[in-house]
Amino acid sequence: MKIIMLGAPGAGKGTQAKQIAKKFSIPHISTGDIFRANIKENTELGKKAKEYMDQGMLVPDSLTLELIMDRFKNADCANGYVLDGFPRTIPQAEALTKALADNGEKIDFAINVEVPDESIVNRMSGRRACLSCGATYHIKYNAPAKENVCDTCSAELVLRDDDKPETVLKRLSVYHEQTQPLIDYYKNENVLREVDGTQDMNKVFDDILAILQ
Ligand code: AP5
Repeated sequence: MKIIMLGAPGAGKGTQAKQIAKKFSIPHISTGDIFRANIKENTELGKKAKEYMDQGMLVPDSLTLELIMDRFKNADCANGYVLDGFPRTIPQAEALTKALADNGEKIDFAINVEVPDESIVNRMSGRRACLSCGATYHIKYNAPAKENVCDTCSAELVLRDDDKPETVLKRLSVYHEQTQPLIDYYKNENVLREVDGTQDMNKVFDDILAILQ
């Protein structure tokens, strides 16, 4: 099964994608996580990506497409994947559609997690991320057992650099301008499904399962 998670920054794409990946035994592929891992390791890709991410802007399509097409070659993608944060622009979506069509494949579902802008800034200020294993928490809605310590790998949790309120507002405006058009793109492909992302995260997951099963 090939699934795309759509939605504004902080809508809960990553939270849901991790659960979908576990349930269907497919990899969770987050371009944001891949960029953050590269930043942490100070690679050339990481240095370039950081310039854009810290300003709330998108990393150029050429860099993003190269890394994702490479990721699809991994053996773990044989039975599908859940994409989180990719595609994010119409050219990225078109490149994905073409790459899949060249192999006689297509996306099965594009799930749009809907959350209004007003709720996003509040959510982001409470998010805490583990840059070591990629786990995500929220100080109020999904708190770790021990404050600021990852339940999974015991690393310290941090507020992401791009989760500061001013950067979140920039990311939201970039989302509306460059990523929201993908909703119509996937509606036209007849694979768009919508879920209400303002509900409790377990209820959001139940709604997604009802779509996928
Ligand atoms: P990326 O890491 O993809 O960030 P994003 O899309 O902005 O999404 P987030 O990870 O911020 O949010 P999310 O929707 O996954 O929400 P989460 O589940 O964490 O990208 C970062 C940057 O990388 C981009 O700005 C760009 O520069 C670059 N980039 C990445 N991909 C790119 C691409 N394809 N092209 C170009 N550039 C790219 O949830 C958020 C918080 O809310 C958490 O604390 C969570 O616990 C909580 N929460 C989740 N669900 C609920 C709920 N139902 N109720 C209450 N709280 C909830």
